[in-house]
Amino acid sequence: MNKPELYYVKTYGCQMNVHESEKIAAILRGFGYEETANIQDASIIVFNTCAIRDSAEQKIYGNIGAVKKLKQQNPNLIFAVCGCMTQMQGRADIIKQKYPHVNIVFGTHNLSQFKDYLLNYKTNGKNIYEVWENEKEISEDVEAYRTSKHNAWVNIMYGCNNFCTYCIVPFVRGRERSRDSKEIIEEVKTLVSQGYKYITLLGQNVNSYGNDKKGKDLTFAQLLNALSELEGDFKIKFMTSHPKDINSDVIDVIAKYPKISKAIHLPIQSGSNKILKSMNRGYTKEHYLAKLEEIKAKIPNVYISTDIIVGFPGETEEDFIETLNLVKQVQYDGLFGFMYSPRTGTIAESMDNQIDKDIKNQRVNKLLTLSKKIIKDKVKQMLNQVIEVIVDDITFINGSKFYVATTDTGRSVLIKDAKELPVGEFIEVKITEITGAKLIAEIL
Ligand code: SAH
Ligand code: SF4
Ligand code: F3S
Repeated sequence: MNKPELYYVKTYGCQMNVHESEKIAAILRGFGYEETANIQDASIIVFNTCAIRDSAEQKIYGNIGAVKKLKQQNPNLIFAVCGCMTQMQGRADIIKQKYPHVNIVFGTHNLSQFKDYLLNYKTNGKNIYEVWENEKEISEDVEAYRTSKHNAWVNIMYGCNNFCTYCIVPFVRGRERSRDSKEIIEEVKTLVSQGYKYITLLGQNVNSYGNDKKGKDLTFAQLLNALSELEGDFKIKFMTSHPKDINSDVIDVIAKYPKISKAIHLPIQSGSNKILKSMNRGYTKEHYLAKLEEIKAKIPNVYISTDIIVGFPGETEEDFIETLNLVKQVQYDGLFGFMYSPRTGTIAESMDNQIDKDIKNQRVNKLLTLSKKIIKDKVKQMLNQVIEVIVDDITFINGSKFYVATTDTGRSVLIKDAKELPVGEFIEVKITEITGAKLIAEIL
Protein backbone atom coordinates (compact mmCIF):
# COMPACT_ATOMS: atom_id res chain seq x y z
CA MET A 1 0.00 0.00 0.00
CA ASN A 2 1.24 3.49 -0.79
CA LYS A 3 2.06 5.68 2.17
CA PRO A 4 -0.56 8.44 2.52
CA GLU A 5 0.47 12.03 1.85
CA LEU A 6 0.62 14.20 4.96
CA TYR A 7 -0.77 17.60 5.95
CA TYR A 8 0.56 20.14 8.43
CA VAL A 9 -1.75 22.88 9.69
CA LYS A 10 -0.28 25.70 11.76
CA THR A 11 -2.78 27.76 13.75
CA TYR A 12 -2.16 31.30 15.00
CA GLY A 13 -4.53 33.30 17.21
CA CYS A 14 -7.60 32.44 19.20
CA GLN A 15 -9.90 29.44 19.77
CA MET A 16 -11.99 30.54 16.82
CA ASN A 17 -9.00 29.80 14.61
CA VAL A 18 -8.19 26.58 16.45
CA HIS A 19 -11.66 25.34 15.59
CA GLU A 20 -11.47 26.58 12.01
CA SER A 21 -8.23 24.65 11.62
CA GLU A 22 -10.21 21.55 12.60
CA LYS A 23 -12.49 22.32 9.66
CA ILE A 24 -9.48 22.76 7.37
CA ALA A 25 -8.12 19.42 8.62
CA ALA A 26 -11.45 17.73 7.80
CA ILE A 27 -11.27 19.10 4.23
CA LEU A 28 -7.69 17.85 3.85
CA ARG A 29 -8.63 14.41 5.16
CA GLY A 30 -11.35 14.35 2.52
CA PHE A 31 -8.53 14.46 -0.05
CA GLY A 32 -6.87 11.46 1.65
CA TYR A 33 -4.15 13.41 3.48
CA GLU A 34 -3.16 12.40 7.00
CA GLU A 35 -1.79 14.57 9.78
CA THR A 36 1.87 15.12 10.63
CA ALA A 37 3.35 17.13 13.47
CA ASN A 38 6.50 17.63 11.43
CA ILE A 39 6.38 20.35 8.77
CA GLN A 40 9.28 18.79 6.80
CA ASP A 41 7.24 15.65 6.10
CA ALA A 42 4.16 17.44 4.78
CA SER A 43 2.92 17.41 1.18
CA ILE A 44 0.57 20.24 2.02
CA ILE A 45 1.08 23.04 4.54
CA VAL A 46 -1.68 25.40 5.69
CA PHE A 47 -1.09 28.49 7.86
CA ASN A 48 -4.30 29.69 9.50
CA THR A 49 -3.34 33.22 10.51
CA CYS A 50 -4.18 35.90 13.08
CA ALA A 51 -4.11 39.70 12.75
CA ILE A 52 -4.86 40.83 16.28
CA ARG A 53 -1.46 42.46 16.86
CA ASP A 54 1.43 43.44 14.62
CA SER A 55 3.74 41.02 16.45
CA ALA A 56 1.49 38.14 15.32
CA GLU A 57 1.64 39.36 11.74
CA GLN A 58 5.41 39.80 11.65
CA LYS A 59 5.93 36.31 13.03
CA ILE A 60 3.66 34.88 10.35
CA TYR A 61 5.53 36.64 7.51
CA GLY A 62 8.78 35.21 8.91
CA ASN A 63 7.32 31.71 8.98
CA ILE A 64 5.84 32.08 5.47
CA GLY A 65 9.31 33.06 4.24
CA ALA A 66 10.84 30.00 5.88
CA VAL A 67 8.59 27.61 3.92
CA LYS A 68 10.32 28.72 0.70
CA LYS A 69 13.21 26.41 1.48
CA LEU A 70 10.90 23.42 1.84
CA LYS A 71 9.26 24.31 -1.45
CA GLN A 72 12.68 24.37 -3.14
CA GLN A 73 13.41 20.90 -1.75
CA ASN A 74 9.99 19.62 -2.82
CA PRO A 75 8.45 21.53 -5.74
CA ASN A 76 5.25 19.46 -5.39
CA LEU A 77 4.63 20.85 -1.92
CA ILE A 78 1.35 22.80 -1.73
CA PHE A 79 1.29 25.85 0.56
CA ALA A 80 -1.94 27.61 1.56
CA VAL A 81 -2.34 30.69 3.80
CA CYS A 82 -5.73 31.74 5.17
CA GLY A 83 -7.43 33.33 8.19
CA CYS A 84 -7.68 36.78 9.70
CA MET A 85 -4.41 38.16 8.36
CA THR A 86 -5.15 37.30 4.73
CA GLN A 87 -8.63 38.79 5.23
CA MET A 88 -7.02 42.13 6.17
CA GLN A 89 -6.96 44.76 3.47
CA GLY A 90 -3.94 44.50 1.18
CA ARG A 91 -2.41 41.44 2.83
CA ALA A 92 -3.26 39.00 0.02
CA ASP A 93 -1.46 41.35 -2.40
CA ILE A 94 1.61 41.48 -0.18
CA ILE A 95 1.72 37.68 -0.15
CA LYS A 96 1.19 37.51 -3.92
CA GLN A 97 4.05 39.92 -4.55
CA LYS A 98 6.56 38.95 -1.91
CA TYR A 99 5.90 35.26 -1.38
CA PRO A 100 5.00 33.61 -4.70
CA HIS A 101 5.72 30.20 -3.15
CA VAL A 102 2.32 30.50 -1.43
CA ASN A 103 -0.07 28.64 -3.75
CA ILE A 104 -3.50 29.28 -2.26
CA VAL A 105 -4.61 32.39 -0.37
CA PHE A 106 -8.12 32.78 1.01
CA GLY A 107 -9.79 34.71 3.84
CA THR A 108 -12.12 33.98 6.75
CA HIS A 109 -15.31 34.39 4.71
CA ASN A 110 -14.50 31.78 2.08
CA LEU A 111 -13.11 28.93 4.17
CA SER A 112 -15.92 26.69 2.95
CA GLN A 113 -14.49 27.05 -0.59
CA PHE A 114 -11.06 25.66 0.33
CA LYS A 115 -11.98 22.25 -1.09
CA ASP A 116 -12.65 23.79 -4.51
CA TYR A 117 -9.49 25.90 -4.42
CA LEU A 118 -7.38 22.85 -3.64
CA LEU A 119 -9.05 20.84 -6.37
CA ASN A 120 -8.41 23.66 -8.87
CA TYR A 121 -4.81 24.05 -7.84
CA LYS A 122 -4.21 20.32 -8.10
CA THR A 123 -5.77 20.32 -11.59
CA ASN A 124 -4.05 23.32 -13.17
CA GLY A 125 -1.16 24.25 -10.86
CA LYS A 126 -2.02 27.98 -10.94
CA ASN A 127 -1.75 29.97 -7.72
CA ILE A 128 -5.10 31.09 -6.32
CA TYR A 129 -5.69 34.39 -4.50
CA GLU A 130 -9.30 34.79 -3.42
CA VAL A 131 -10.47 36.81 -0.45
CA TRP A 132 -14.17 37.68 -0.23
CA GLU A 133 -14.81 41.19 0.98
CA ASN A 134 -18.02 40.44 2.84
CA GLU A 135 -19.37 37.68 4.99
CA LYS A 136 -21.92 35.28 3.53
CA GLU A 137 -24.67 33.21 5.14
CA ILE A 138 -23.38 30.71 7.68
CA SER A 139 -22.39 27.54 5.90
CA GLU A 140 -23.34 24.48 7.96
CA ASP A 141 -21.77 21.93 5.65
CA VAL A 142 -18.12 22.15 6.76
CA GLU A 143 -17.38 19.38 9.23
CA ALA A 144 -14.57 19.51 11.78
CA TYR A 145 -11.87 16.94 12.43
CA ARG A 146 -11.61 17.42 16.20
CA THR A 147 -8.16 17.30 17.69
CA SER A 148 -8.46 17.96 21.41
CA LYS A 149 -9.05 15.06 23.76
CA HIS A 150 -11.96 16.00 25.98
CA ASN A 151 -12.97 19.36 24.63
CA ALA A 152 -15.05 20.13 21.58
CA TRP A 153 -15.33 23.67 20.24
CA VAL A 154 -18.74 24.75 18.98
CA ASN A 155 -19.27 28.06 17.17
CA ILE A 156 -22.50 29.66 18.25
CA MET A 157 -21.91 32.84 16.29
CA TYR A 158 -19.46 34.52 13.96
CA GLY A 159 -18.28 38.12 13.63
CA CYS A 160 -18.49 41.13 15.91
CA ASN A 161 -20.51 44.37 15.88
CA ASN A 162 -18.69 46.19 18.66
CA PHE A 163 -15.92 48.03 16.87
CA CYS A 164 -13.72 48.60 19.90
CA THR A 165 -11.48 51.30 18.49
CA TYR A 166 -8.28 49.23 18.71
CA CYS A 167 -9.63 45.99 17.27
CA ILE A 168 -9.28 44.44 13.83
CA VAL A 169 -11.74 41.59 14.45
CA PRO A 170 -14.89 43.33 13.12
CA PHE A 171 -12.96 44.11 9.92
CA VAL A 172 -11.73 40.57 9.34
CA ARG A 173 -14.68 38.61 10.70
CA GLY A 174 -17.63 40.73 9.54
CA ARG A 175 -20.90 41.43 11.35
CA GLU A 176 -22.48 39.20 13.99
CA ARG A 177 -24.24 36.14 12.64
CA SER A 178 -25.75 33.63 15.05
CA ARG A 179 -26.16 29.98 14.16
CA ASP A 180 -29.64 28.49 14.53
CA SER A 181 -30.05 27.18 18.04
CA LYS A 182 -31.46 23.91 16.63
CA GLU A 183 -28.20 23.29 14.75
CA ILE A 184 -26.16 24.06 17.86
CA ILE A 185 -28.23 21.79 20.09
CA GLU A 186 -28.02 18.92 17.58
CA GLU A 187 -24.26 19.35 17.30
CA VAL A 188 -23.83 19.34 21.08
CA LYS A 189 -26.03 16.23 21.42
CA THR A 190 -23.84 14.41 18.91
CA LEU A 191 -20.62 15.52 20.60
CA VAL A 192 -21.86 14.40 24.01
CA SER A 193 -22.83 11.02 22.57
CA GLN A 194 -19.30 10.77 21.14
CA GLY A 195 -17.92 11.18 24.67
CA TYR A 196 -16.73 14.82 24.71
CA LYS A 197 -16.72 16.11 28.29
CA TYR A 198 -16.31 19.83 27.68
CA ILE A 199 -18.30 21.70 25.10
CA THR A 200 -16.90 25.18 24.61
CA LEU A 201 -19.27 27.64 22.94
CA LEU A 202 -17.40 30.17 20.83
CA GLY A 203 -18.21 33.72 19.81
CA GLN A 204 -16.48 37.12 19.99
CA ASN A 205 -19.30 38.26 22.27
CA VAL A 206 -21.41 35.25 23.24
CA ASN A 207 -23.79 37.44 25.23
CA SER A 208 -25.15 38.98 22.06
CA TYR A 209 -26.01 35.54 20.65
CA GLY A 210 -29.36 35.71 18.88
CA ASN A 211 -29.53 39.54 18.67
CA ASP A 212 -29.35 39.36 14.88
CA LYS A 213 -32.38 37.02 14.83
CA LYS A 214 -34.60 39.72 16.33
CA GLY A 215 -36.49 37.50 18.77
CA LYS A 216 -36.97 34.62 16.31
CA ASP A 217 -34.50 32.38 18.09
CA LEU A 218 -33.15 31.82 21.61
CA THR A 219 -31.13 34.35 23.62
CA PHE A 220 -27.75 33.29 25.04
CA ALA A 221 -29.31 32.61 28.45
CA GLN A 222 -32.01 30.46 26.82
CA LEU A 223 -29.42 28.61 24.76
CA LEU A 224 -27.37 27.84 27.90
CA ASN A 225 -30.56 26.68 29.55
CA ALA A 226 -31.49 24.36 26.67
CA LEU A 227 -28.00 22.86 26.49
CA SER A 228 -27.87 22.31 30.26
CA GLU A 229 -31.08 20.30 30.06
CA LEU A 230 -29.48 17.79 27.65
CA GLU A 231 -28.69 14.41 29.12
CA GLY A 232 -25.15 13.19 29.63
CA ASP A 233 -22.05 13.71 31.71
CA PHE A 234 -20.53 16.89 30.30
CA LYS A 235 -19.82 20.52 31.07
CA ILE A 236 -20.45 23.67 29.08
CA LYS A 237 -17.87 26.41 28.76
CA PHE A 238 -18.18 29.59 26.72
CA MET A 239 -16.11 32.53 25.54
CA THR A 240 -15.92 35.47 25.31
CA SER A 241 -18.37 37.39 27.50
CA HIS A 242 -18.65 41.14 27.02
CA PRO A 243 -19.07 43.20 30.22
CA LYS A 244 -21.62 45.49 28.56
CA ASP A 245 -23.86 42.59 27.52
CA ILE A 246 -23.63 39.91 30.20
CA ASN A 247 -26.95 40.17 32.06
CA SER A 248 -28.77 38.76 35.07
CA ASP A 249 -30.50 36.08 32.98
CA VAL A 250 -27.11 34.71 31.90
CA ILE A 251 -25.64 34.96 35.39
CA ASP A 252 -28.68 33.16 36.87
CA VAL A 253 -28.49 30.29 34.43
CA ILE A 254 -24.74 29.83 35.07
CA ALA A 255 -25.45 29.78 38.80
CA LYS A 256 -28.32 27.32 38.41
CA TYR A 257 -26.78 24.46 36.45
CA PRO A 258 -23.87 22.31 37.68
CA LYS A 259 -23.34 21.47 34.00
CA ILE A 260 -22.11 25.02 33.30
CA SER A 261 -18.49 25.75 34.13
CA LYS A 262 -18.03 28.42 36.78
CA ALA A 263 -15.28 30.17 34.84
CA ILE A 264 -16.06 33.49 33.20
CA HIS A 265 -13.63 35.35 30.97
CA LEU A 266 -14.65 38.99 31.30
CA PRO A 267 -12.18 41.30 29.56
CA ILE A 268 -11.96 44.74 31.21
CA GLN A 269 -9.21 46.12 28.89
CA SER A 270 -8.50 49.15 31.14
CA GLY A 271 -9.29 50.43 34.63
CA SER A 272 -9.60 54.05 33.47
CA ASN A 273 -13.02 55.35 32.40
CA LYS A 274 -11.36 57.84 30.08
CA ILE A 275 -9.55 55.04 28.23
CA LEU A 276 -12.60 52.74 28.24
CA LYS A 277 -14.57 55.50 26.55
CA SER A 278 -11.87 56.09 24.00
CA MET A 279 -11.76 52.32 23.37
CA ASN A 280 -15.56 52.39 22.74
CA ARG A 281 -16.08 49.51 25.17
CA GLY A 282 -19.57 50.64 26.15
CA TYR A 283 -19.16 50.38 29.95
CA THR A 284 -17.50 52.18 32.83
CA LYS A 285 -15.32 50.72 35.54
CA GLU A 286 -18.23 51.11 37.98
CA HIS A 287 -20.62 49.26 35.68
CA TYR A 288 -18.07 46.44 35.27
CA LEU A 289 -17.55 46.16 39.03
CA ALA A 290 -21.30 46.07 39.63
CA LYS A 291 -21.69 43.16 37.20
CA LEU A 292 -18.82 41.38 38.88
CA GLU A 293 -20.41 41.94 42.26
CA GLU A 294 -23.60 40.27 41.03
CA ILE A 295 -21.62 37.38 39.53
CA LYS A 296 -19.63 36.81 42.72
CA ALA A 297 -22.75 37.00 44.89
CA LYS A 298 -24.66 34.46 42.79
CA ILE A 299 -21.82 32.09 41.88
CA PRO A 300 -19.63 31.13 44.84
CA ASN A 301 -15.99 30.31 43.96
CA VAL A 302 -16.42 31.69 40.44
CA TYR A 303 -13.16 31.89 38.44
CA ILE A 304 -12.78 35.26 36.77
CA SER A 305 -10.19 35.99 34.10
CA THR A 306 -9.62 39.07 31.97
CA ASP A 307 -7.74 40.74 29.13
CA ILE A 308 -5.99 44.09 29.52
CA ILE A 309 -4.39 46.36 26.95
CA VAL A 310 -1.66 48.73 28.15
CA GLY A 311 -0.35 51.73 26.26
CA PHE A 312 -3.57 52.56 24.44
CA PRO A 313 -3.24 56.06 22.86
CA GLY A 314 -3.51 58.74 25.54
CA GLU A 315 -2.97 56.35 28.47
CA THR A 316 -1.22 58.38 31.17
CA GLU A 317 0.64 57.01 34.18
CA GLU A 318 -2.48 57.84 36.24
CA ASP A 319 -4.70 55.84 33.87
CA PHE A 320 -2.33 52.91 34.11
CA ILE A 321 -2.30 53.11 37.92
CA GLU A 322 -6.10 52.95 37.81
CA THR A 323 -5.75 49.69 35.87
CA LEU A 324 -3.31 48.28 38.43
CA ASN A 325 -5.66 49.28 41.25
CA LEU A 326 -8.58 47.62 39.56
CA VAL A 327 -6.57 44.41 39.13
CA LYS A 328 -5.70 44.51 42.84
CA GLN A 329 -9.33 45.08 43.72
CA VAL A 330 -10.76 42.30 41.55
CA GLN A 331 -8.02 39.72 42.28
CA TYR A 332 -8.31 37.98 38.91
CA ASP A 333 -7.75 34.24 38.70
CA GLY A 334 -6.30 34.64 35.20
CA LEU A 335 -5.07 37.68 33.27
CA PHE A 336 -3.80 38.20 29.73
CA GLY A 337 -1.93 41.48 29.31
CA PHE A 338 -1.13 42.98 25.92
CA MET A 339 0.76 46.01 24.63
CA TYR A 340 -1.49 48.08 22.39
CA SER A 341 -0.68 47.47 18.74
CA PRO A 342 -2.02 49.86 16.06
CA ARG A 343 -4.07 48.00 13.40
CA THR A 344 -4.64 49.28 9.88
CA GLY A 345 -8.05 50.90 9.40
CA THR A 346 -9.06 51.08 13.07
CA ILE A 347 -9.94 54.38 14.76
CA ALA A 348 -7.24 54.11 17.41
CA GLU A 349 -4.56 53.77 14.76
CA SER A 350 -4.95 57.45 13.87
CA MET A 351 -5.43 58.79 17.41
CA ASP A 352 -2.95 61.31 18.80
CA ASN A 353 -0.77 60.51 21.78
CA GLN A 354 0.45 57.09 20.69
CA ILE A 355 2.52 55.66 23.53
CA ASP A 356 6.19 54.88 23.33
CA LYS A 357 7.16 51.21 22.93
CA ASP A 358 9.41 51.29 26.04
CA ILE A 359 6.60 52.63 28.20
CA LYS A 360 4.23 49.94 26.92
CA ASN A 361 6.85 47.36 27.71
CA GLN A 362 7.38 48.64 31.25
CA ARG A 363 3.64 48.79 31.86
CA VAL A 364 2.92 45.30 30.61
CA ASN A 365 5.74 43.89 32.74
CA LYS A 366 4.40 45.67 35.83
CA LEU A 367 0.92 44.40 35.14
CA LEU A 368 1.99 40.81 34.58
CA THR A 369 4.19 40.80 37.71
CA LEU A 370 1.25 42.01 39.76
CA SER A 371 -1.14 39.47 38.30
CA LYS A 372 1.31 36.59 38.79
CA LYS A 373 1.57 37.45 42.46
CA ILE A 374 -2.22 37.64 42.84
CA ILE A 375 -2.68 34.33 41.03
CA LYS A 376 -0.06 32.65 43.23
CA ASP A 377 -1.94 33.79 46.34
CA LYS A 378 -5.25 32.71 44.87
CA VAL A 379 -3.90 29.27 44.00
CA LYS A 380 -2.79 28.93 47.65
CA GLN A 381 -6.42 29.42 48.66
CA MET A 382 -7.28 26.24 46.79
CA LEU A 383 -5.68 24.16 49.55
CA ASN A 384 -8.20 21.68 51.01
CA GLN A 385 -10.80 22.60 48.38
CA VAL A 386 -12.74 19.79 46.76
CA ILE A 387 -12.86 20.25 43.00
CA GLU A 388 -13.99 18.37 39.95
CA VAL A 389 -11.30 17.40 37.46
CA ILE A 390 -11.06 15.31 34.36
CA VAL A 391 -8.50 12.48 34.41
CA ASP A 392 -6.00 12.77 31.55
CA ASP A 393 -3.15 10.36 31.94
CA ILE A 394 -0.65 8.56 34.20
CA THR A 395 2.81 9.97 34.92
CA PHE A 396 5.76 8.95 37.09
CA ILE A 397 7.69 11.50 39.14
CA ASN A 398 10.79 10.25 40.97
CA GLY A 399 9.47 6.72 40.65
CA SER A 400 6.04 7.51 42.15
CA LYS A 401 2.88 7.11 40.14
CA PHE A 402 0.54 10.08 39.69
CA TYR A 403 -2.52 10.66 37.60
CA VAL A 404 -2.55 13.94 35.67
CA ALA A 405 -5.91 15.69 35.65
CA THR A 406 -7.26 19.08 34.54
CA THR A 407 -9.69 21.48 36.18
CA ASP A 408 -12.33 23.10 34.01
CA THR A 409 -10.27 26.28 34.10
CA GLY A 410 -7.37 24.44 32.51
CA ARG A 411 -5.18 24.03 35.63
CA SER A 412 -3.20 20.84 35.87
CA VAL A 413 -3.54 18.70 39.00
CA LEU A 414 -1.44 15.68 40.03
CA ILE A 415 -3.37 13.01 41.89
CA LYS A 416 -1.29 10.83 44.20
CA ASP A 417 -1.85 7.41 45.79
CA ALA A 418 -4.65 6.54 43.39
CA LYS A 419 -4.79 2.87 42.36
CA GLU A 420 -6.94 3.06 39.27
CA LEU A 421 -8.82 6.05 37.90
CA PRO A 422 -11.09 6.33 34.85
CA VAL A 423 -9.17 8.23 32.16
CA GLY A 424 -11.44 10.69 30.34
CA GLU A 425 -14.02 10.89 33.14
CA PHE A 426 -14.85 13.52 35.76
CA ILE A 427 -13.90 12.79 39.38
CA GLU A 428 -13.82 14.84 42.57
CA VAL A 429 -10.49 15.35 44.32
CA LYS A 430 -9.24 17.30 47.31
CA ILE A 431 -6.23 19.59 46.92
CA THR A 432 -3.78 18.51 49.62
CA GLU A 433 -0.51 20.18 48.65
CA ILE A 434 0.59 23.20 46.66
CA THR A 435 4.21 23.58 45.62
CA GLY A 436 4.85 26.59 43.40
CA ALA A 437 2.35 26.33 40.60
CA LYS A 438 1.84 22.57 41.12
CA LEU A 439 -1.39 21.34 42.61
CA ILE A 440 -1.30 17.92 44.28
CA ALA A 441 -4.56 16.21 45.10
CA GLU A 442 -5.93 13.03 46.62
CA ILE A 443 -9.08 11.18 45.69
CA LEU A 444 -11.92 11.48 48.15
N1 SAH B 1 -13.90 39.37 21.61
C1 SAH B 1 -13.08 39.36 22.72
C2 SAH B 1 -11.59 39.33 22.47
C3 SAH B 1 -11.02 39.42 21.14
S1 SAH B 1 -9.31 39.63 20.89
C4 SAH B 1 -13.43 40.54 23.58
O1 SAH B 1 -14.10 41.44 23.19
O2 SAH B 1 -12.98 40.61 24.69
C5 SAH B 1 -8.52 39.14 22.38
C6 SAH B 1 -7.84 40.25 23.10
O3 SAH B 1 -6.79 40.81 22.35
C7 SAH B 1 -8.72 41.42 23.45
O4 SAH B 1 -9.51 41.19 24.58
C8 SAH B 1 -7.72 42.52 23.66
O5 SAH B 1 -7.29 42.57 25.01
C9 SAH B 1 -6.55 42.11 22.78
N2 SAH B 1 -6.42 43.00 21.61
C10 SAH B 1 -7.31 43.20 20.63
N3 SAH B 1 -6.85 44.12 19.75
C11 SAH B 1 -5.64 44.51 20.20
C12 SAH B 1 -4.66 45.46 19.74
N4 SAH B 1 -4.86 46.18 18.65
N5 SAH B 1 -3.52 45.60 20.47
C13 SAH B 1 -3.31 44.86 21.58
N6 SAH B 1 -4.20 43.98 22.06
C14 SAH B 1 -5.35 43.79 21.38
FE1 SF4 C 1 -12.69 43.14 19.19
FE2 SF4 C 1 -14.22 44.49 20.83
FE3 SF4 C 1 -15.30 42.76 19.11
FE4 SF4 C 1 -13.88 41.85 21.16
S1 SF4 C 1 -15.81 43.00 21.28
S2 SF4 C 1 -13.72 41.19 19.04
S3 SF4 C 1 -12.31 43.39 21.39
S4 SF4 C 1 -14.25 44.65 18.60
FE1 F3S D 1 -8.83 35.33 16.56
FE2 F3S D 1 -6.66 36.60 15.78
FE3 F3S D 1 -8.71 36.41 14.18
S1 F3S D 1 -7.47 36.60 17.79
S2 F3S D 1 -10.52 36.25 15.44
S3 F3S D 1 -7.48 34.71 14.97
S4 F3S D 1 -7.47 38.20 14.48
